[in-house]
Amino acid sequence: MSNILITGASSGIGNALVQLLDNKDNHLILIGRDVNKLNVLSKNLTAKSTLIQFDLEDVDNIKFLSNDMPVVIDAFAHCAGIDSTLPLKNVNYSKFEKSIKVNMFSFIELIKIIVKTKNKSDFWTNVVAVSSIASQHGGVAQTIYASTKAALEASVRVLAKELINNKIRINSVSPGLVNTEMTQRWMERVGIDNINTLSKFQLSGIAEPIEIANVIEFLLSAKSSHIVGQNISIDGGGPKSLIF
Ligand SMILES: NC(=O)c1ccc[n+]([C@@H]2O[C@H](COP(=O)([O-])OP(=O)(O)OC[C@H]3O[C@@H](n4cnc5c(N)ncnc54)[C@H](OP(=O)(O)O)[C@@H]3O)[C@@H](O)[C@H]2O)c1
Repeated sequence: MSNILITGASSGIGNALVQLLDNKDNHLILIGRDVNKLNVLSKNLTAKSTLIQFDLEDVDNIKFLSNDMPVVIDAFAHCAGIDSTLPLKNVNYSKFEKSIKVNMFSFIELIKIIVKTKNKSDFWTNVVAVSSIASQHGGVAQTIYASTKAALEASVRVLAKELINNKIRINSVSPGLVNTEMTQRWMERVGIDNINTLSKFQLSGIAEPIEIANVIEFLLSAKSSHIVGQNISIDGGGPKSLIF
């Protein structure tokens, strides 16, 4: 049985990944803030599941989650994340701190648990962090979101090298626009009321969460064994050009 740790399992991309990995050969360890959402999710699963109610902003206490994970982790997907749309005048350190904790530093603390519990094991642990194309192409008012995702990708590149001798293989994915609650909330903030309008911004239209989850599943599997420290864009070809 594979022990698979997933953050952000209650919604969007993380939820699509849970559905994809839901079979009797997997033990899904799901971290989320809302215990009701986790309970509803686990009720319909075939896989064994362990539910951990935790707010990933509380980075100082992540180390204690090792008590709730009494197994060696075979795979880890960090799907939890928060976006922010803030013009410069509204950017401040406390807002940045909240985002960097959830988007990036919680990932590092969870990897530390994996390293600690994995000691001397002879199998590979495969890890994927969900970044965003905003890390490279962040738009207006995305200073905080884009910076935290760029930091996440940098940590993946470095830790992939640092931990390869521990048999931990790390990569990241960078989705473009995906049809999730995060995108719905962003549409409300910027005054777009129709998902079809948004589809026109991206060459292949807006992605469904499963299209991102499929790539994460591949990177978590042995099929991608020679891909290390990479960031894979899943952006449907990117934004539509205004000229061509
Ligand atoms: N949607 C897009 O277009 C898009 C594009 C590029 C990258 N991404 C990235 O993809 C990832 C998944 O996003 P999504 O679109 O699936 O968003 P979503 O539907 O809003 O899901 C986000 C998930 O993160 C969890 N989360 C947020 N803050 C948390 C915290 N403090 N502690 C624990 N869990 C927390 C949420 O749990 P709750 O249910 O408790 O809120 C939820 O399960 C994120 O990292 C996002 O940045 C999304």
